[in-house]
Amino acid sequence: MPATCVIGLQWGDEAKGKVVDLLTQQHDIVVRYQGGANAGHTVVAGGEVYKLSLIPSGIFRPGVQCVVAGGTVLNPEALLQEIDGLTARGVQVGKNLMISDRAHVIFPWHFEEDRLMTDQGADAESIGTTLRGIGPCYRDKVGRSWAIRLGDMYRASFRDQIEKVAAAKTRSLSSLGAGGETFQLDAGRIFQQYSDHAERLRPYVADTTAYLLDAIEAGKRILFEGAQGALLDIDHGTFPFVTSSNSSGAGVAAGAGVPGRVVTKVVGILKAYCTRVGGGPFPTEQDNQVGQHIRDRGNEYGTVTRRPRRCGWFDAVAARYTVRLSDVDVLAVMLLDVLSELPEIHICTGYELDGRRIVDFPSHVDDVRRVVPVYETLPGWNQEISDVRHYDDLPTAARNYVSRIGQLVGRPVGLVSVGPDREQTIVVKSQNI
Ligand code: GDP
Ligand code: IMO
Ligand code: MG
Repeated sequence: MPATCVIGLQWGDEAKGKVVDLLTQQHDIVVRYQGGANAGHTVVAGGEVYKLSLIPSGIFRPGVQCVVAGGTVLNPEALLQEIDGLTARGVQVGKNLMISDRAHVIFPWHFEEDRLMTDQGADAESIGTTLRGIGPCYRDKVGRSWAIRLGDMYRASFRDQIEKVAAAKTRSLSSLGAGGETFQLDAGRIFQQYSDHAERLRPYVADTTAYLLDAIEAGKRILFEGAQGALLDIDHGTFPFVTSSNSSGAGVAAGAGVPGRVVTKVVGILKAYCTRVGGGPFPTEQDNQVGQHIRDRGNEYGTVTRRPRRCGWFDAVAARYTVRLSDVDVLAVMLLDVLSELPEIHICTGYELDGRRIVDFPSHVDDVRRVVPVYETLPGWNQEISDVRHYDDLPTAARNYVSRIGQLVGRPVGLVSVGPDREQTIVVKSQNI
């Protein structure tokens, strides 16, 4: 049976949530497999706007099983709040949600570390994390000694584990300058809080790896929901201005615990322009009126932190790189309506570095900072398109723009989005998304 994955191809917020919600109709299971509540995925259904952090965007479709797999990092309190928030709005969250006992748990010390480290990086520019403790939790996972997984919270040894880690973290955080000399983590209180959360989460906790492996054998249709975007991938993104997990297609197998070859279709999500939140290089950034226009029209403010997103032109060099990295089969071009009022639109078709044209996205962040984008100018369409539902009804200039994106990036466009609502979607008939 086919399995699909949805991957953001830029710096996150490409509207993955909307596409996952739409594709859920053709799937039995939806899986979040990396990242945590640094993600903010929006689904607009029936006029209601839902913001999801960790719960898969498939949660709104009855009969679909949602899985938060072992490659994620989670803060139990935030997860419970998310469950409660959805339940209060009439969304059913019960047996249809399963959370891996292998997922790593975010503790108060991780928030403190995130806050302290964010401005002390090796690079002078701050990464500008979401301050959700994501990086510190993944660091402990890789370091092993101070890591605690969800499954550990149900063992008799949990209290000892908390005491050991809290003592070590008190020492290390004090040396980082947290809270002055008297800084002390209260292991007893943390143990109590987390034990209470664990009890409430107990009905959802399962061995999701075993569940997914059985589901594959049973021929279930699985949809993997990537978080962040490939340019924020810990290994392949604009390091160190990245998140701490593999947010390109490379993360699916490791994060979900499934063989990589079960994924038969990769859907790549692109905004019709580019945005980035936080620090790091952004070659096509428009820190000017054009950028502000896109920010205003696209409501480009972070779903999680409400920070204004940096905005710029579509970068085909970066997109061609991430499309190949995840071997994308078909593209979804989102937020096309945001560009409607611009008289002309630029696409970055190449980079110049030290006066020479380069075709590959540079591996070092300093070079990404130094590249000079080469632009091609296309006419705008100066006409609202939010009500268009058929590709052929788009203005010619809009169609030309979309097809130029597909051409430059080297993959077909199967879906165009002209508004946040489920209905504001154009499926390109000739493509199989
Ligand atoms: P995600 O993190 O990739 O799921 O994306 P976000 O939810 O963080 O950001 C995408 C934003 O764009 C959300 O507010 C969506 O409701 C909105 N959105 C999605 N598709 C469209 C579209 O085609 N046009 C417009 N104007 N907004 C859209
Ligand atoms: P979704 O899934 C956009 C960015 C942060 C920061 C960097 C590291 O909604 O697309 P972290 O807290 O992960 O250590 O922050 O990554 N970032 C995102 N930007 N969308 C996201 O998720 C992001 N998740 C993290 O702004 O620059
Ligand atoms: Mg988002």
